[in-house]
Amino acid sequence: MASLTVRKLEEALKAELRLRAARHGRSVEDEVRSILRDAVAAGDSHDVSAPGAAPPPVDATPSPTAAPHPAASSGGSARVTLIIGGGIAAYKSLDLIRRLKERGVAVRCILTRAGAEFITPLSVSALAHAPCFTDLFDPRSEFDVGHIRLARDCDLLVVAPATADLMAKMANGLADDLASATLLAAGRPILLAPAMNPLMWSNPATKRNVARLTADGRHFVGPNRGEMAEAGEAGTGRMAEPLEIVAAALSLLAPPAPRPLAGTRILITAGPTHEPIDPVRYIANRSSGKQGYAIAAAAAAAGAAVTLVSGPVALADPAGVSVIRVESARDMLAAVEAQLPADVAIFAAAVADWRVAQAGTQKLKKTAAGPPTLAFAENPDILATISQRTSGRPPLVIGFAAETEHLIDNARAKLKRKGCDWLVANDVSPATGVMGGDRNTVHLLKRDSDAVESWPVMGKDEVAATLVARIAEAVKG
Ligand code: C5P
Repeated sequence: MASLTVRKLEEALKAELRLRAARHGRSVEDEVRSILRDAVAAGDSHDVSAPGAAPPPVDATPSPTAAPHPAASSGGSARVTLIIGGGIAAYKSLDLIRRLKERGVAVRCILTRAGAEFITPLSVSALAHAPCFTDLFDPRSEFDVGHIRLARDCDLLVVAPATADLMAKMANGLADDLASATLLAAGRPILLAPAMNPLMWSNPATKRNVARLTADGRHFVGPNRGEMAEAGEAGTGRMAEPLEIVAAALSLLAPPAPRPLAGTRILITAGPTHEPIDPVRYIANRSSGKQGYAIAAAAAAAGAAVTLVSGPVALADPAGVSVIRVESARDMLAAVEAQLPADVAIFAAAVADWRVAQAGTQKLKKTAAGPPTLAFAENPDILATISQRTSGRPPLVIGFAAETEHLIDNARAKLKRKGCDWLVANDVSPATGVMGGDRNTVHLLKRDSDAVESWPVMGKDEVAATLVARIAEAVKG
């Protein structure tokens, strides 16, 4: 049965139901649901308690912590109370409602008095398929829903746009309208999407309020940099885009991610190395570091304690990863050795095989004698050095093989030569676009098996997640 509509109820019965619902802090619909559930559970579907009967005990104790609602974690449809403040960005909140509903999220909206200067309650309720609440002292909403229920009968509260005024009220615990009263009564996580003029955002008062709200455990998405509605103004203060807010909301609604690598220490190398010719010139390669960084991020997300030893790249540190930046192969080896012991070591860096034997201490000059002749010396092989350690070798050592021909044969030989446990082989011929690109086609070879596991073309993030899943299986095994 998808839904049940009861028509032709006597007015007196409706009034009695409303009273009973208000006593229990439920909507009338929830109250009827509860009565029917109790009657069926009692095994007598004909003997539905009369509305005047003694109410079942209700635990009205508010939860003090902002814990995710079990409905969200148990796969039921998640419920968001969306508070729309007064700002020009309110028009984006109409799209936000649609985007949330597209993802199966039930949205109940509160529009502040100032918000209603920008968009109408009618458009909000039409998009939300639910009444839009506006007034703390609206007898209809206080009787049937009430700000306490708006605050508690949801898995997450989203404030978008979160104006400077609304944030100031929240930071100081004011509750003089429906939005601020609901936020003060909230027992669920609160996500704020600030939107205001850059001068207001950078005002010390706003900064104090943001700091206090952060300390109170409130979550933020944005504001972004960009043009303001005011002609000719730009800066930080634009509300995050609806899809950014949706992503932030869904991550707060999601059940906590599994952490199969909790307690595992993982050491990763990534990026190219720079081998100096003189103080201003160096030899490098085209490695972007994206694959190694993606592995570091995926391992950290899986709960591992990750150290990333990175050559020079233009990438931000992955969240929750300790990053050590180095330049040359010899620096990279020293950093890796200093970070041992580890449970797993993954060598994804494109380390230069050679360095200039005698790098100049001064900038090399053009002379009449013509160009210099550079003599090279071999760099240490970090993967082989760590794989072949007799003491303190990580139990699982994984290398990479970037090949342009005879991929599997070369990879198999490399696995043996280096002495690692697994080798991730990929074709980096220019036609594949792997170097510097976002996609990768890889094959996993293992020391103790002749089988080759070939993965389909994937984004580097997916390759990272798949490799981390394999590592988690191995660590558990
Ligand atoms: O020999 P080749 O450079 O193809 O080997 C690739 C693998 O060895 C990668 O895992 C890379 O990080 C690692 N490597 C290393 N130190 C080197 C050269 C390669 O750790 N000097």
